[in-house]
Amino acid sequence: MNYLESLQQRYSVKKFDPAKKLSPEILQNILDAGKLSASSLGLQPYRILVVESDEMKQKLVPAFFNPSQISTCSHLIVIVTRKKIDENYIGNYFNHISQTREIPVENLQPFKKSIDSFMNLNSNEEMLHWNEKQGYLLLGNLMFAAALEKVDTCPMEGFKMDEISKILEIDSEIEKVTVTLALGYRAEDDAFQKMKKVRKPNEKLFKFL
Ligand SMILES: Cc1cc2nc3c(=O)[nH]c(=O)nc-3n(C[C@H](O)[C@H](O)[C@H](O)COP(=O)(O)O)c2cc1C
Repeated sequence: MNYLESLQQRYSVKKFDPAKKLSPEILQNILDAGKLSASSLGLQPYRILVVESDEMKQKLVPAFFNPSQISTCSHLIVIVTRKKIDENYIGNYFNHISQTREIPVENLQPFKKSIDSFMNLNSNEEMLHWNEKQGYLLLGNLMFAAALEKVDTCPMEGFKMDEISKILEIDSEIEKVTVTLALGYRAEDDAFQKMKKVRKPNEKLFKFL
């Protein structure tokens, strides 16, 4: 199957088959694809929570407006975004680059200066918005990799922020739950799999210049 066929086959699942679970290898492949996501300046301003216990999934059910995916999925990925990128975070990032690429941290100063000045230009609200955009790129990669692995997904933003944050023990001063992704295998009776894709026609979507 080529990747366009995989993308045609994927749809946002409303009901998974609760008996079918992802193997640890397939789950790790999808997570590795997420890890390899590009992010602006390479800062990866997020964490990826992987909910696999039935107990935690059940706790989360009431926090979602469409609970059917949560109660039937194999795994739930929660993308949690950092609200602020502070000096400490940037310092750790540069130490990491220095160690990984075996470059003295002093040689990275020009890059660091440009990041510092960029950070100072933005308000807290703009920073959060920018950080969350990186999380959506991650979401796209996870979904694409899952489709290639023949794993079904449903991206979900329809949750109650206070409830989900409390259950997952997110410190809302520091982080925000941005988006979630349910993973599993479609239930045979999920009617949505038979529906045609609704997408803009090419002439409205693409413009060649
Ligand atoms: C960021 C994002 C958030 C979404 N949130 C929800 C959601 O909370 N519940 C849901 O059932 N579907 C959700 N969807 C699925 C969309 O409704 C779906 O992708 C769109 O209708 C296109 O259909 P398809 O994914 O089946 O091709 C979300 C999709 C995206 C990309």
